[in-house]
Amino acid sequence: MQKRDTGEGGRSLVVDAVTHRYGASVAVENINLDIRSGELVALLGPSGCGKTTLLRIIAGFVRQTEGRIILSDEVVDDLGPKRRRIGIVFQNYALFPHMSVAENVAYGPAALGMGKAEREAEVRRLLELVKLGHLADRLPRQLSGGQQQRVALARALAIKPRILLLDEPFAALDKNLRLDMQIEIKRLQRLSGITTVMVTHDQEEALSMADRVAVLSQGRLEQFASPTEIYDRPQSLFVNTFVGSANQLNGIVVSADAGRATVRLDAGAEVVARTPAGTLAAGQRCLVCLRPEHLELGDGADGFAAVVEMGLPLGPTVVHEVRGADGAGIKVSEPRRAGVALRETGAPVRVRPAAPDLATAYSAS
Ligand SMILES: Nc1ncnc2c1ncn2[C@@H]1O[C@H](COP(=O)(O)OP(=O)(O)OP(=O)(O)O)[C@@H](O)[C@H]1O
Ligand SMILES: [Mg+2]
Repeated sequence: MQKRDTGEGGRSLVVDAVTHRYGASVAVENINLDIRSGELVALLGPSGCGKTTLLRIIAGFVRQTEGRIILSDEVVDDLGPKRRRIGIVFQNYALFPHMSVAENVAYGPAALGMGKAEREAEVRRLLELVKLGHLADRLPRQLSGGQQQRVALARALAIKPRILLLDEPFAALDKNLRLDMQIEIKRLQRLSGITTVMVTHDQEEALSMADRVAVLSQGRLEQFASPTEIYDRPQSLFVNTFVGSANQLNGIVVSADAGRATVRLDAGAEVVARTPAGTLAAGQRCLVCLRPEHLELGDGADGFAAVVEMGLPLGPTVVHEVRGADGAGIKVSEPRRAGVALRETGAPVRVRPAAPDLATAYSAS
């Protein structure tokens, strides 16, 4: 890579108590993120939760109502997007329609004063990287959505940003190309140390690519942690059910202390659950979350009684849909062994947690 005035590595990025309102409606509310130099962070959340708004605030296209954006210890709230030297790939690509692919990529470097020969070599290198070398002379409207997206990515990288912001960068790509691009971005990001914030509503993409994931819901930050922490120790009911799938079982708290509760499930068994969102009280109605792979089916006496309704063989695993005595539909995922018949519809089974410490309980209110 060329060494220009951006120097090596990425900048750290602090989102400090940022709130943004469009008129009376709050799009993001008191967001705090401390992103390390070179880190890849995913903003994950459902449509409308404020991901793009937050990205545009970081880039400098939207001025937040409250709070600060800090790049490498410098408050940049009064700097426009150009002066922040941030590479951004928008959700809608926003390519220059009257410029060819090569001209689109060359635009940023030209504006920064890079010489013609160097610029052309750089454009060639970047177009090879995104596998578009053969389409350099086309106009954006002569490209597919996925190709346009890759041009947008090459264009963002061309200014050698020290922060890269990507808004749903792979949404228009088919599955194989998406995987290639995910690996390519991650490799590039590692090599160059560009601090990267990537917006996605695809939880697999967030978990597989990011060093840390920020889960947003309705403008609020629900949790900011490593992918395994998010998946294994979700802080809120929202994170628990939005990331991965989780059975939600109704129950009543038998006893509780700080961080833990023993819950009698309506379906019939007692489980011990973590209570990360706050201590529960004995007698309180609650929801117990257990992921399909956190449950197992047995024939013994422990757990609660259920009946097999369906088995879905998914290659290495089989997901059983079973129904408990209280009518609750529950998914249980088990390893599948070749040649072993699936459980029959209507077969009675017992359902139990596969290990202690896997359940999480939240107040039902
Ligand atoms: N310019 C605007 N004026 C008024 N409201 C807006 C504006 N832009 C966004 N909003 C609202 O702010 C909220 C957050 O929007 P935002 O675009 O940040 O969501 P998002 O998480 O990026 O969603 P998606 O996944 O659909 O792209 C939404 O309720 C949206 O309707
Ligand atoms: Mg968006």
